[in-house]
Amino acid sequence: MTLNSTAFLADFTSMSANGATAGGGVDRQAATIADGQNRNWFRGLVEGHGFTVRYDAVGNQYSMLELTPGAPWIAVGSHLDSQPLGGRFDGAYGVLAGAHAAARVQESLTGSSETASFNIVVINWFNEEGCRFKPSMMGSSVYTGKLSAQQVLETTDPAGIRVREALEAIGTIGDFELPVAAYVEIHIEQGRSMEDAGVSIGLVESTWGANKYEFIVHGDQAHTGATIIADRQDALLGASALVVAAREIALEHSTDEHMVITSCGEFNVFPNSPVVVASRVNLLVDVRSTDPDVLAAADADLHARIAAIEKMANVSIERGAEHVWGAKAYDHAGLKLAADAAESLGLTHGVVRTLAGHDSTNMKDIVPTIMLFIPSVEGISHNERELTHDADMVAGVDLLTEVLLRVVRGEFVSASGKAQDSALESSAVS
Ligand code: GLV
Ligand code: MN
Ligand code: MN
Repeated sequence: MTLNSTAFLADFTSMSANGATAGGGVDRQAATIADGQNRNWFRGLVEGHGFTVRYDAVGNQYSMLELTPGAPWIAVGSHLDSQPLGGRFDGAYGVLAGAHAAARVQESLTGSSETASFNIVVINWFNEEGCRFKPSMMGSSVYTGKLSAQQVLETTDPAGIRVREALEAIGTIGDFELPVAAYVEIHIEQGRSMEDAGVSIGLVESTWGANKYEFIVHGDQAHTGATIIADRQDALLGASALVVAAREIALEHSTDEHMVITSCGEFNVFPNSPVVVASRVNLLVDVRSTDPDVLAAADADLHARIAAIEKMANVSIERGAEHVWGAKAYDHAGLKLAADAAESLGLTHGVVRTLAGHDSTNMKDIVPTIMLFIPSVEGISHNERELTHDADMVAGVDLLTEVLLRVVRGEFVSASGKAQDSALESSAVS
Protein backbone atom coordinates (compact mmCIF):
# COMPACT_ATOMS: atom_id res chain seq x y z
CA MET A 1 0.00 0.00 0.00
CA THR A 2 1.28 3.48 -0.84
CA LEU A 3 1.43 5.75 2.16
CA ASN A 4 0.07 9.04 0.93
CA SER A 5 -1.79 11.94 2.53
CA THR A 6 -5.14 10.19 2.29
CA ALA A 7 -3.80 7.16 4.12
CA PHE A 8 -2.32 9.37 6.84
CA LEU A 9 -5.57 11.25 7.42
CA ALA A 10 -7.55 7.99 7.48
CA ASP A 11 -5.16 6.54 10.08
CA PHE A 12 -5.35 9.72 12.13
CA THR A 13 -9.15 9.48 12.17
CA SER A 14 -9.01 5.81 13.20
CA MET A 15 -6.49 6.55 15.96
CA SER A 16 -8.61 9.40 17.31
CA ALA A 17 -11.45 6.94 18.05
CA ASN A 18 -9.27 5.36 20.78
CA GLY A 19 -10.21 7.07 24.04
CA ALA A 20 -12.48 9.53 22.21
CA THR A 21 -14.49 11.91 24.38
CA ALA A 22 -17.96 13.30 23.74
CA GLY A 23 -16.50 16.77 23.24
CA GLY A 24 -14.35 15.75 20.26
CA GLY A 25 -11.10 15.16 22.11
CA VAL A 26 -9.45 12.15 23.71
CA ASP A 27 -8.74 10.94 27.23
CA ARG A 28 -5.75 8.59 27.04
CA GLN A 29 -3.86 9.26 30.23
CA ALA A 30 -0.69 7.24 30.60
CA ALA A 31 -1.11 3.48 30.99
CA THR A 32 -4.91 3.66 31.24
CA ILE A 33 -7.05 1.21 29.26
CA ALA A 34 -7.52 3.83 26.54
CA ASP A 35 -3.75 4.43 26.30
CA GLY A 36 -3.23 0.66 26.13
CA GLN A 37 -5.85 0.35 23.37
CA ASN A 38 -4.18 3.05 21.38
CA ARG A 39 -0.71 1.55 21.86
CA ASN A 40 -2.01 -1.79 20.60
CA TRP A 41 -3.78 -0.11 17.70
CA PHE A 42 -0.53 1.62 16.76
CA ARG A 43 1.40 -1.62 17.09
CA GLY A 44 -1.03 -3.34 14.71
CA LEU A 45 -0.74 -0.51 12.24
CA VAL A 46 3.05 -0.43 12.10
CA GLU A 47 3.48 -4.20 12.15
CA GLY A 48 1.30 -4.21 9.04
CA HIS A 49 3.98 -2.03 7.43
CA GLY A 50 6.88 -4.25 8.43
CA PHE A 51 7.99 -2.59 11.66
CA THR A 52 9.07 -4.66 14.69
CA VAL A 53 7.69 -3.45 18.04
CA ARG A 54 9.38 -3.69 21.47
CA TYR A 55 8.99 -2.09 24.93
CA ASP A 56 11.62 -0.96 27.38
CA ALA A 57 11.53 -1.15 31.19
CA VAL A 58 9.36 1.96 31.55
CA GLY A 59 6.95 1.29 28.69
CA ASN A 60 8.56 3.34 25.93
CA GLN A 61 7.31 1.74 22.70
CA TYR A 62 9.90 1.26 19.92
CA SER A 63 8.70 0.54 16.38
CA MET A 64 11.72 -0.35 14.27
CA LEU A 65 12.11 -0.22 10.54
CA GLU A 66 15.36 -1.73 9.41
CA LEU A 67 16.58 -0.14 6.19
CA THR A 68 20.20 -1.33 6.31
CA PRO A 69 20.85 -4.35 8.54
CA GLY A 70 23.44 -3.54 11.19
CA ALA A 71 23.36 0.24 10.63
CA PRO A 72 22.94 2.56 13.65
CA TRP A 73 19.50 3.96 14.50
CA ILE A 74 17.96 7.37 14.35
CA ALA A 75 14.73 7.98 16.27
CA VAL A 76 11.61 9.89 15.42
CA GLY A 77 8.86 10.15 17.99
CA SER A 78 6.49 11.85 20.36
CA HIS A 79 3.80 10.53 22.72
CA LEU A 80 0.43 8.81 22.40
CA ASP A 81 -0.78 9.63 25.93
CA SER A 82 -3.00 12.65 26.52
CA GLN A 83 -4.29 14.99 29.17
CA PRO A 84 -7.75 14.25 30.62
CA LEU A 85 -10.19 15.77 28.10
CA GLY A 86 -7.18 16.50 25.89
CA GLY A 87 -6.97 17.16 22.18
CA ARG A 88 -6.52 14.58 19.43
CA PHE A 89 -3.31 16.11 18.08
CA ASP A 90 -0.94 16.73 21.01
CA GLY A 91 1.74 14.05 20.76
CA ALA A 92 -0.32 11.52 18.82
CA TYR A 93 0.10 13.46 15.59
CA GLY A 94 3.88 13.23 15.91
CA VAL A 95 3.98 9.48 16.56
CA LEU A 96 1.70 8.68 13.63
CA ALA A 97 3.53 11.16 11.40
CA GLY A 98 6.81 9.46 12.38
CA ALA A 99 5.49 6.04 11.35
CA HIS A 100 4.17 7.28 8.01
CA ALA A 101 7.31 9.26 7.27
CA ALA A 102 9.55 6.29 8.11
CA ALA A 103 7.53 3.96 5.89
CA ARG A 104 7.62 6.53 3.09
CA VAL A 105 11.39 6.81 3.41
CA GLN A 106 11.61 3.04 3.06
CA GLU A 107 9.34 3.14 0.00
CA SER A 108 11.42 5.80 -1.65
CA LEU A 109 14.68 3.90 -1.02
CA THR A 110 13.31 0.55 -2.14
CA GLY A 111 14.46 -0.19 -5.64
CA SER A 112 16.96 2.69 -5.64
CA SER A 113 20.70 2.15 -5.61
CA GLU A 114 21.02 4.14 -2.38
CA THR A 115 21.92 2.49 0.92
CA ALA A 116 20.66 4.22 4.06
CA SER A 117 23.35 5.01 6.65
CA PHE A 118 20.79 4.65 9.45
CA ASN A 119 17.75 2.61 10.39
CA ILE A 120 14.66 4.32 11.79
CA VAL A 121 12.91 3.69 15.11
CA VAL A 122 9.62 5.42 15.89
CA ILE A 123 9.37 5.96 19.65
CA ASN A 124 6.11 6.48 21.50
CA TRP A 125 7.45 7.85 24.78
CA PHE A 126 5.65 6.75 27.93
CA ASN A 127 3.77 9.43 29.90
CA GLU A 128 4.83 12.70 28.32
CA GLU A 129 1.84 14.47 29.86
CA GLY A 130 2.54 13.78 33.51
CA CYS A 131 -1.08 14.02 34.62
CA ARG A 132 -1.74 10.54 36.01
CA PHE A 133 1.88 9.98 37.07
CA LYS A 134 4.28 12.88 37.73
CA PRO A 135 6.53 14.29 36.38
CA SER A 136 5.85 14.87 32.71
CA MET A 137 8.22 13.59 29.98
CA MET A 138 8.73 10.50 32.14
CA GLY A 139 9.74 7.91 29.54
CA SER A 140 12.20 10.20 27.79
CA SER A 141 13.59 11.29 31.18
CA VAL A 142 14.54 7.68 31.90
CA TYR A 143 15.96 7.20 28.40
CA THR A 144 18.14 10.30 28.83
CA GLY A 145 19.28 9.38 32.35
CA LYS A 146 17.42 12.17 34.15
CA LEU A 147 15.26 9.75 36.14
CA SER A 148 15.96 6.16 37.13
CA ALA A 149 13.72 3.39 35.84
CA GLN A 150 13.33 2.15 39.40
CA GLN A 151 12.07 5.52 40.64
CA VAL A 152 9.60 5.75 37.76
CA LEU A 153 8.29 2.20 38.20
CA GLU A 154 7.56 2.93 41.88
CA THR A 155 5.75 6.22 41.15
CA THR A 156 2.06 6.04 42.08
CA ASP A 157 -1.07 7.68 40.68
CA PRO A 158 -3.65 9.31 43.02
CA ALA A 159 -5.28 5.86 43.54
CA GLY A 160 -1.95 4.39 44.69
CA ILE A 161 -1.36 2.33 41.51
CA ARG A 162 2.31 2.07 40.57
CA VAL A 163 3.63 2.73 37.06
CA ARG A 164 4.90 -0.86 36.97
CA GLU A 165 1.44 -2.31 37.75
CA ALA A 166 -0.28 0.03 35.31
CA LEU A 167 2.11 -0.88 32.48
CA GLU A 168 1.80 -4.59 33.25
CA ALA A 169 -1.99 -4.28 33.21
CA ILE A 170 -1.92 -2.98 29.64
CA GLY A 171 0.90 -5.36 28.64
CA THR A 172 3.29 -2.72 27.37
CA ILE A 173 6.44 -3.20 29.42
CA GLY A 174 9.62 -5.09 28.52
CA ASP A 175 13.38 -4.94 28.77
CA PHE A 176 14.34 -3.66 25.33
CA GLU A 177 17.14 -1.10 24.94
CA LEU A 178 18.25 0.77 21.84
CA PRO A 179 20.84 3.56 21.55
CA VAL A 180 20.09 6.15 18.87
CA ALA A 181 22.37 8.62 17.09
CA ALA A 182 19.88 11.46 16.55
CA TYR A 183 16.28 12.37 17.29
CA VAL A 184 13.55 14.07 15.27
CA GLU A 185 10.12 15.13 16.58
CA ILE A 186 7.16 16.87 15.00
CA HIS A 187 4.38 18.31 17.15
CA ILE A 188 1.59 20.84 17.01
CA GLU A 189 2.68 24.30 18.15
CA GLN A 190 0.04 24.59 20.93
CA GLY A 191 0.39 28.38 20.67
CA ARG A 192 -0.64 30.79 17.94
CA SER A 193 2.60 32.44 16.78
CA MET A 194 2.74 30.39 13.56
CA GLU A 195 -0.89 31.00 12.71
CA ASP A 196 -0.37 34.72 13.36
CA ALA A 197 2.72 34.70 11.12
CA GLY A 198 1.03 32.59 8.42
CA VAL A 199 3.70 29.89 8.21
CA SER A 200 3.00 26.19 7.87
CA ILE A 201 6.24 24.86 9.41
CA GLY A 202 7.92 25.93 12.65
CA LEU A 203 11.63 25.21 13.07
CA VAL A 204 12.11 25.06 16.82
CA GLU A 205 15.32 26.82 17.80
CA SER A 206 15.09 26.50 21.59
CA THR A 207 13.03 25.65 24.63
CA TRP A 208 11.76 28.11 27.21
CA GLY A 209 13.02 27.43 30.71
CA ALA A 210 10.46 25.96 33.11
CA ASN A 211 10.49 25.55 36.89
CA LYS A 212 7.62 23.43 38.16
CA TYR A 213 7.04 22.95 41.87
CA GLU A 214 4.68 21.03 44.07
CA PHE A 215 3.73 23.04 47.17
CA ILE A 216 2.03 21.53 50.19
CA VAL A 217 0.20 24.06 52.32
CA HIS A 218 -0.39 22.81 55.86
CA GLY A 219 -3.18 24.23 57.99
CA ASP A 220 -5.43 22.73 60.63
CA GLN A 221 -8.83 21.19 60.09
CA ALA A 222 -11.63 23.12 61.81
CA HIS A 223 -15.34 24.04 61.66
CA THR A 224 -15.92 26.81 59.10
CA GLY A 225 -18.70 28.37 61.18
CA ALA A 226 -17.64 27.76 64.73
CA THR A 227 -13.94 28.62 64.47
CA ILE A 228 -13.29 32.35 64.80
CA ILE A 229 -11.03 33.87 62.17
CA ALA A 230 -8.20 34.54 64.63
CA ASP A 231 -7.99 30.82 65.42
CA ARG A 232 -7.90 29.54 61.84
CA GLN A 233 -5.06 27.94 59.98
CA ASP A 234 -6.73 27.82 56.59
CA ALA A 235 -4.66 25.86 54.07
CA LEU A 236 -7.03 26.82 51.26
CA LEU A 237 -6.51 30.52 51.95
CA GLY A 238 -2.72 30.08 51.88
CA ALA A 239 -2.84 28.04 48.67
CA SER A 240 -5.11 30.58 47.00
CA ALA A 241 -2.71 33.38 47.90
CA LEU A 242 0.09 31.38 46.27
CA VAL A 243 -1.96 31.04 43.08
CA VAL A 244 -2.58 34.80 43.01
CA ALA A 245 1.09 35.49 43.74
CA ALA A 246 2.08 33.34 40.76
CA ARG A 247 -0.09 35.44 38.44
CA GLU A 248 1.24 38.70 39.89
CA ILE A 249 4.78 37.49 39.29
CA ALA A 250 4.05 36.81 35.61
CA LEU A 251 2.70 40.33 35.22
CA GLU A 252 5.49 42.01 37.17
CA HIS A 253 8.48 40.16 35.71
CA SER A 254 7.55 40.02 32.01
CA THR A 255 9.56 42.41 29.88
CA ASP A 256 9.08 43.42 26.24
CA GLU A 257 11.80 40.96 25.29
CA HIS A 258 11.16 38.12 27.73
CA MET A 259 7.74 37.01 28.80
CA VAL A 260 7.13 35.20 32.08
CA ILE A 261 4.28 32.67 32.18
CA THR A 262 3.05 31.18 35.44
CA SER A 263 0.19 28.87 36.33
CA CYS A 264 -1.31 26.57 38.85
CA GLY A 265 -2.78 23.60 36.97
CA GLU A 266 -3.53 21.21 39.80
CA PHE A 267 -5.00 22.00 43.19
CA ASN A 268 -6.14 19.36 45.68
CA VAL A 269 -7.93 20.36 48.87
CA PHE A 270 -8.16 18.11 51.93
CA PRO A 271 -10.63 17.08 53.15
CA ASN A 272 -12.62 19.25 50.68
CA SER A 273 -15.84 19.22 52.64
CA PRO A 274 -18.48 21.97 52.93
CA VAL A 275 -18.20 22.97 56.58
CA VAL A 276 -14.53 22.20 57.08
CA VAL A 277 -11.55 24.57 57.02
CA ALA A 278 -8.99 22.81 54.84
CA SER A 279 -6.16 21.09 56.66
CA ARG A 280 -3.97 20.75 53.57
CA VAL A 281 -3.73 21.75 49.93
CA ASN A 282 -1.34 20.23 47.40
CA LEU A 283 -0.82 22.42 44.37
CA LEU A 284 1.47 22.60 41.36
CA VAL A 285 2.88 25.93 40.25
CA ASP A 286 4.93 26.46 37.15
CA VAL A 287 7.05 29.44 36.16
CA ARG A 288 8.44 29.74 32.61
CA SER A 289 10.49 32.23 30.64
CA THR A 290 12.76 32.45 27.61
CA ASP A 291 15.52 34.11 29.60
CA PRO A 292 17.37 32.33 32.44
CA ASP A 293 17.92 35.55 34.42
CA VAL A 294 14.31 36.67 34.11
CA LEU A 295 13.19 33.16 35.11
CA ALA A 296 15.54 33.14 38.10
CA ALA A 297 14.27 36.54 39.28
CA ALA A 298 10.62 35.49 38.92
CA ASP A 299 11.32 32.23 40.73
CA ALA A 300 13.13 34.03 43.56
CA ASP A 301 10.21 36.45 43.90
CA LEU A 302 7.74 33.54 44.16
CA HIS A 303 9.78 31.98 46.93
CA ALA A 304 10.29 35.33 48.68
CA ARG A 305 6.53 35.75 48.98
CA ILE A 306 6.03 32.48 50.82
CA ALA A 307 6.84 33.80 54.31
CA ALA A 308 4.28 36.60 53.98
CA ILE A 309 1.62 34.14 52.77
CA GLU A 310 2.38 31.79 55.69
CA LYS A 311 1.91 34.68 58.12
CA MET A 312 -1.25 36.02 56.50
CA ALA A 313 -3.03 32.61 56.42
CA ASN A 314 -1.40 31.19 59.56
CA VAL A 315 -0.16 28.13 57.68
CA SER A 316 3.15 26.52 56.79
CA ILE A 317 4.19 25.94 53.19
CA GLU A 318 6.41 23.03 52.26
CA ARG A 319 8.01 22.58 48.85
CA GLY A 320 7.66 19.07 47.41
CA ALA A 321 8.81 17.59 44.12
CA GLU A 322 10.24 19.78 41.39
CA HIS A 323 10.67 19.40 37.66
CA VAL A 324 12.98 21.90 36.01
CA TRP A 325 14.44 22.40 32.55
CA GLY A 326 16.45 25.22 31.09
CA ALA A 327 16.04 27.55 28.11
CA LYS A 328 18.29 25.73 25.69
CA ALA A 329 18.99 25.67 21.96
CA TYR A 330 18.29 22.82 19.55
CA ASP A 331 21.03 21.70 17.20
CA HIS A 332 21.88 24.43 14.71
CA ALA A 333 22.70 22.05 11.87
CA GLY A 334 19.30 20.43 12.36
CA LEU A 335 17.54 23.77 11.91
CA LYS A 336 19.44 24.33 8.69
CA LEU A 337 18.66 20.83 7.41
CA ALA A 338 14.94 21.25 8.20
CA ALA A 339 14.85 24.74 6.64
CA ASP A 340 16.44 23.37 3.44
CA ALA A 341 13.99 20.46 3.42
CA ALA A 342 11.03 22.84 3.81
CA GLU A 343 12.39 25.04 0.99
CA SER A 344 12.75 22.03 -1.29
CA LEU A 345 9.06 21.24 -0.75
CA GLY A 346 7.96 24.88 -1.13
CA LEU A 347 6.67 25.03 2.45
CA THR A 348 6.63 28.36 4.31
CA HIS A 349 8.60 28.22 7.53
CA GLY A 350 9.81 30.33 10.41
CA VAL A 351 11.85 29.91 13.57
CA VAL A 352 9.90 29.38 16.80
CA ARG A 353 10.65 28.66 20.45
CA THR A 354 8.71 26.09 22.38
CA LEU A 355 6.88 27.18 25.51
CA ALA A 356 5.66 23.65 26.15
CA GLY A 357 7.92 20.80 27.18
CA HIS A 358 8.37 17.88 24.77
CA ASP A 359 10.29 14.62 24.74
CA SER A 360 12.76 16.43 22.50
CA THR A 361 13.43 18.75 25.47
CA ASN A 362 15.13 15.73 27.02
CA MET A 363 16.51 14.11 23.87
CA LYS A 364 18.31 17.24 22.67
CA ASP A 365 20.49 17.00 25.78
CA ILE A 366 21.97 13.65 24.70
CA VAL A 367 21.86 13.52 20.88
CA PRO A 368 21.58 16.02 18.00
CA THR A 369 17.85 16.75 17.75
CA ILE A 370 15.50 18.38 15.25
CA MET A 371 12.16 19.71 16.52
CA LEU A 372 9.43 20.73 14.08
CA PHE A 373 6.03 22.35 14.60
CA ILE A 374 2.85 22.59 12.59
CA PRO A 375 0.23 25.23 13.47
CA SER A 376 -2.55 24.93 16.04
CA VAL A 377 -5.81 26.74 15.23
CA GLU A 378 -6.02 29.75 17.59
CA GLY A 379 -3.27 28.15 19.68
CA ILE A 380 -5.88 26.07 21.53
CA SER A 381 -4.35 23.03 23.21
CA HIS A 382 -4.86 20.69 26.18
CA ASN A 383 -8.49 21.13 25.23
CA GLU A 384 -10.97 18.95 23.34
CA ARG A 385 -11.26 21.78 20.81
CA GLU A 386 -7.58 21.48 19.87
CA LEU A 387 -7.38 21.57 16.07
CA THR A 388 -4.83 21.45 13.29
CA HIS A 389 -6.07 21.61 9.70
CA ASP A 390 -5.63 18.56 7.48
CA ALA A 391 -3.47 20.52 5.03
CA ASP A 392 -1.05 21.43 7.82
CA MET A 393 -0.91 17.85 9.12
CA VAL A 394 -0.17 16.59 5.62
CA ALA A 395 2.50 19.24 5.02
CA GLY A 396 4.11 18.18 8.30
CA VAL A 397 4.28 14.52 7.24
CA ASP A 398 5.74 15.53 3.86
CA LEU A 399 8.39 17.60 5.61
CA LEU A 400 9.14 14.92 8.18
CA THR A 401 9.60 12.40 5.35
CA GLU A 402 12.06 14.71 3.58
CA VAL A 403 13.91 15.43 6.85
CA LEU A 404 14.18 11.72 7.71
CA LEU A 405 15.37 10.92 4.22
CA ARG A 406 18.19 13.45 4.63
CA VAL A 407 18.98 12.18 8.12
CA VAL A 408 19.20 8.51 7.07
CA ARG A 409 21.47 9.57 4.22
CA GLY A 410 23.88 10.87 6.87
CA GLU A 411 23.29 14.58 6.20
CA PHE A 412 22.63 15.41 9.90
CA VAL A 413 24.84 13.09 11.90
CA SER A 414 27.54 10.84 10.60
CA ALA A 415 27.48 7.17 11.53
CA SER A 416 29.85 8.09 14.41
CA GLY A 417 27.11 10.33 15.84
CA LYS A 418 28.58 13.81 15.38
CA ALA A 419 26.30 16.61 14.10
CA GLN A 420 27.34 18.30 10.86
CA ASP A 421 28.10 21.99 11.41
CA SER A 422 26.35 24.78 9.54
CA ALA A 423 24.60 28.11 9.98
CA LEU A 424 20.92 28.94 9.82
CA GLU A 425 19.27 31.72 7.93
CA SER A 426 15.52 31.84 8.49
CA SER A 427 12.92 34.36 9.57
CA ALA A 428 11.81 34.57 13.19
CA VAL A 429 8.17 34.32 14.19
CA SER A 430 8.54 34.35 17.97
C1 GLV B 1 5.12 19.59 29.39
O1 GLV B 1 5.35 18.73 30.18
C2 GLV B 1 4.97 20.96 29.78
O2 GLV B 1 4.90 21.21 30.98
O3 GLV B 1 4.96 21.82 28.90
MN1 MN C 1 2.80 16.95 23.61
MN1 MN D 1 0.50 17.95 26.19
